[in-house]
Amino acid sequence: MNTGDKNTVVGKPLNRVDGHLKVTGGARYSAEFPVAKLTYGVTIQSTIAKGKIAQIDTKAAEQVPGVLAVITHLNAPKASGEKGGGHKVQVLQDNIVLYSGQHIGVVVADTFERAMYAASLVQVRYDEEKPTINMRDNLAKAYLPKGKMPGEEPPDLAHGNVNQGLAAAAVRVEQTYTTPIENHNPMEPHATTAVWQGDELLLYDATQGIFSTQEKVAGVLGIEPKKVRIMSYFVGGGFGCKGSAWSHVPIAAIAARQVNRPVKLVLGRIQMYGPVGFRPETIQQVSLGATRDGKLTALRHAGTSQTSTFDEFIEPVGKSARMLYACPNIETSHHLVQLDQGTPTFMRAPGEASGSFALESAMDELAYALNIDPVELRLRNYADVDPSKGIPWSSKSLKECYRLGAEKFGWQKRNPQPRSMRDGNYLLGWGMATATYPTNRSPASAIAQIMADGTAVVQSGSQDIGTGTYTVMTQVAAEALGLPVNKVRFELGDTKMPKTPVSGGSQTAASVSSAVHLAGNQARSQLLQLALADQKSPLYSSKAEDVIAEDGSFFLKNKSSASETYQAILARHGMKMIEARADAKPGEEKKKFSMHAFGSQFAEVRVNPDSGEVRVTRWVGTFGVGRILNAKTANSQLIGGIVYGIGMALMEHTVTDPHRGRVVNADLAEYHVPVNADVPPIEVFFVDEHDPYINPLGVKGIGEIGITGTAAAIANAVYHATGKRVRDLPITLDKLL
Ligand code: MOS
Repeated sequence: MNTGDKNTVVGKPLNRVDGHLKVTGGARYSAEFPVAKLTYGVTIQSTIAKGKIAQIDTKAAEQVPGVLAVITHLNAPKASGEKGGGHKVQVLQDNIVLYSGQHIGVVVADTFERAMYAASLVQVRYDEEKPTINMRDNLAKAYLPKGKMPGEEPPDLAHGNVNQGLAAAAVRVEQTYTTPIENHNPMEPHATTAVWQGDELLLYDATQGIFSTQEKVAGVLGIEPKKVRIMSYFVGGGFGCKGSAWSHVPIAAIAARQVNRPVKLVLGRIQMYGPVGFRPETIQQVSLGATRDGKLTALRHAGTSQTSTFDEFIEPVGKSARMLYACPNIETSHHLVQLDQGTPTFMRAPGEASGSFALESAMDELAYALNIDPVELRLRNYADVDPSKGIPWSSKSLKECYRLGAEKFGWQKRNPQPRSMRDGNYLLGWGMATATYPTNRSPASAIAQIMADGTAVVQSGSQDIGTGTYTVMTQVAAEALGLPVNKVRFELGDTKMPKTPVSGGSQTAASVSSAVHLAGNQARSQLLQLALADQKSPLYSSKAEDVIAEDGSFFLKNKSSASETYQAILARHGMKMIEARADAKPGEEKKKFSMHAFGSQFAEVRVNPDSGEVRVTRWVGTFGVGRILNAKTANSQLIGGIVYGIGMALMEHTVTDPHRGRVVNADLAEYHVPVNADVPPIEVFFVDEHDPYINPLGVKGIGEIGITGTAAAIANAVYHATGKRVRDLPITLDKLL
């Protein structure tokens, strides 16, 4: 049995099903739930990076009218910040300060203003110790971590012998590239509303993972996960910082229990620089060796990044180098330096975004050293199998991405000579880079119900972090159910719903669509079986494979007169609904195939030769990312990734005070992200790609690949424009003068 072509809504540029709610304010975010007897929590944060709280005086704060509690390590209930998985958190258990911005107390009051005011009255005296803040001054302390990187890959990996490959090379590029700390800055701040109902906890939380948050909070509080319910219907951007429940989430729960009333705890923008993760600073050494005709003989990518003193996060900058180019000798390694700062975390394409800046800049330098076109150099080193695993790709359309990108951009008109192209007084630069990101998938479940009125409700825990999960899953469900999209309601964001993974690693579309597809198919099949076995049905005794489902009816393929609506079948059986639940999980395919999305990025910049100001003026990105679930939201996702990359290339830089580890540009006035005026027309093209191996619908995640390669494409364009190679992000004008 199949659904008819008319119902093929997967791929269509459907408007966001939640668009109306969002633009009218009807979409409720985690800080917006009307809760009876609500109170307001405001945290007190450490102003030193290392040491002990010698004294904390809360008397004045406690006397502010409306204040219900001031909770510090002196009176907080027992909890464990190490339990429950995810990053280790600090939940007011002792007087030890591990980083600037650590939450060391929380004030709860009947209004937000009173809580803010009271928090400002808390006096803290520290026994301050000299912190280690600067990674570059402490490289001697770098160590090879024992833990695994994302994707379960080891931190160091070698194939062949890079030193021999370099010795045999006719041309070598050996350079160091650096990227600074960056902060995620989602529009919606971190926010948690904690409501206790007896011994059960309900949390409205801004999170990328309702189930991981449930586990974390339960672990920290020492209660059973089933006593904790997380709801998260709308999330105003995540980008990785909401991928792990940080300290303030269990602190809100602790505070609510203490005052015996619901507590809303929202972090201010300034509070989001330190205790909720960031992209760590990296120093990356790339060594490339090649023959005269441009074949790589050696590729080494060695990264060093920061972690905290109490937890380990590896920024996996070398992941792309392991798989992107054919080369007999590849070595990658990742070292860490412990600093007295918060724990860094995933930020949009962790590893691939920062790593591709180094690798793809180095490839551009090699192209110049060899006098070979940058696209041609990449084609000469095209990897037909995954070089680190020796297994084939499940699908790879990168050659077509290069070809299409070059064509749409007009690359053949490029004069490769630096400073050779101008637009009036401006120096014109054209640069390109490869984009790549792994295709991930985790177990996910869904439930589908076809109702007596001919509508359907489909549920799968999950989250929509702004990526369009509601919309694309409505399409997937409608197609599987044989219903029009306006008859299908897709629901998510509640741990009472079927379990799904965290929305990280670009895996939600691939994981959840598999479950929704399966549950929808099963519900439709069960309904059809009812009809086929029922003498009163016009479809009685037909074969399932001769039936198509369309617009809420079953038709016999060749005799369209024989048909029956879903409503009629359910009504005759006296059923309110028919329901199917499905659990989808990956099989052995990852062992047989290497699974990645690929793309190409082509950038044009105009550089003012007098001021050094760089403007990105044109962009073409081409991507082979499997089946597109929604042409409109997919296009927006890729544009969003590229915009994020423009920020990374030209603006974003978290500046830390070396004495006290405090972020000095902790707001959107000083931490610059691209605004509309910084963003040129961005053209995104998808290469038609069918991947039968990755998951039932052939979907590759697209949340992160868009940023990969962008910073390098811009740096390469800046070199082409100016003849200056900037190897330290961001490319600010002082580096060009
Ligand atoms: Mo994404 S940085 O894996 O949330």
